[in-house]
Amino acid sequence: MQQTILVTGATGTVGREIIKQLSMQDVNVRAGVHSLIKGENLKRLPGVEIVEIDFNDPDSLHAAFTNIDRLMLITPLSEHQLEMARNLVSEAVKQEVKYIVRLSALGAGAEPGIQLGRWHREMERYVEESGIPFTILRPAGFMQNLVTFSAESIKQEGKFYMPVGEGKVSYIDTRDIASVAVEVLLSGEHSGKVYELTGPEALSHQEIAEVLGNATGKQIDFVDVPEEAARQAMLTHHTPAPIADALLELYAVYKTGKSSLVTDSVKEITGRAPHNFRQFASDYSGCF
Ligand SMILES: NC(=O)c1ccc[n+]([C@@H]2O[C@H](COP(=O)([O-])OP(=O)(O)OC[C@H]3O[C@@H](n4cnc5c(N)ncnc54)[C@H](OP(=O)(O)O)[C@@H]3O)[C@@H](O)[C@H]2O)c1
Repeated sequence: MQQTILVTGATGTVGREIIKQLSMQDVNVRAGVHSLIKGENLKRLPGVEIVEIDFNDPDSLHAAFTNIDRLMLITPLSEHQLEMARNLVSEAVKQEVKYIVRLSALGAGAEPGIQLGRWHREMERYVEESGIPFTILRPAGFMQNLVTFSAESIKQEGKFYMPVGEGKVSYIDTRDIASVAVEVLLSGEHSGKVYELTGPEALSHQEIAEVLGNATGKQIDFVDVPEEAARQAMLTHHTPAPIADALLELYAVYKTGKSSLVTDSVKEITGRAPHNFRQFASDYSGCF
């Protein structure tokens, strides 16, 4: 019988790419969407069933988890993420899900690490302690964050702003995270493993600006901003203060150059080299 895989956070940056790639495989895909309107695009993909799910609503969790075999567990960066992850894992236990792949973050294994990593480590523990076989994926920062957070200012002013100085970061393309997730979900050979996933190189944000400029044919500049200015900008955009502080702590790590670790995991798991930043910039040039 065909396996049924539930993907939570299915309309998010990584989730929607996983759904797209899973829809090309011989499995039943259940896309757990927070809002049916945002999930509209996923409906057209073959073999994809859409379910509405609210991580805080037990009835919706019960319906979404009924008769699934495997779970791709994605939660948002939120003040309530621990509670959401707890709810999702306990529903998986109740409904005897057979395997969980968890989207965590690079740095979750560091001690004492930073707040973002500690939150992720705690959520990894819920999965580990569930008794359900699991695999944990710890990706670096996403290349696609530039689309999510900086495309507007790049389009309007030809500039993007971050408090990261000259530190190099090994950003990963979310298409590669999705390819790893799909391979791990389908093969069943990665149980108990934790994978640190990065892009193929570490670049400074000055280098990123140059590559983006070449891809778009526009002058694009990176502006290093003071932490406090970045904090004010996040608060103005309604980022909750604890999340803004946690992101600033991450950016401070970027600044030191300690986020330049490059791993071979994407190639080892998928057999293909991960996208480099130049390929990403060329594929997404229309967004900037
Ligand atoms: N961004 C990075 O560089 C990075 C790096 C490493 C790890 N991560 C981790 O990766 C994970 C996912 O990140 P992402 O950028 O893919 O997130 P994202 O794009 O914000 O996606 C989050 C998804 O969760 C859904 N969601 C939010 N609240 C929900 C609720 N109450 N019930 C059901 N669904 C809900 C969202 O739907 P709606 O939009 O409709 O609410 C969205 O589909 C996070 O845990 C993050 O910490 C991120």
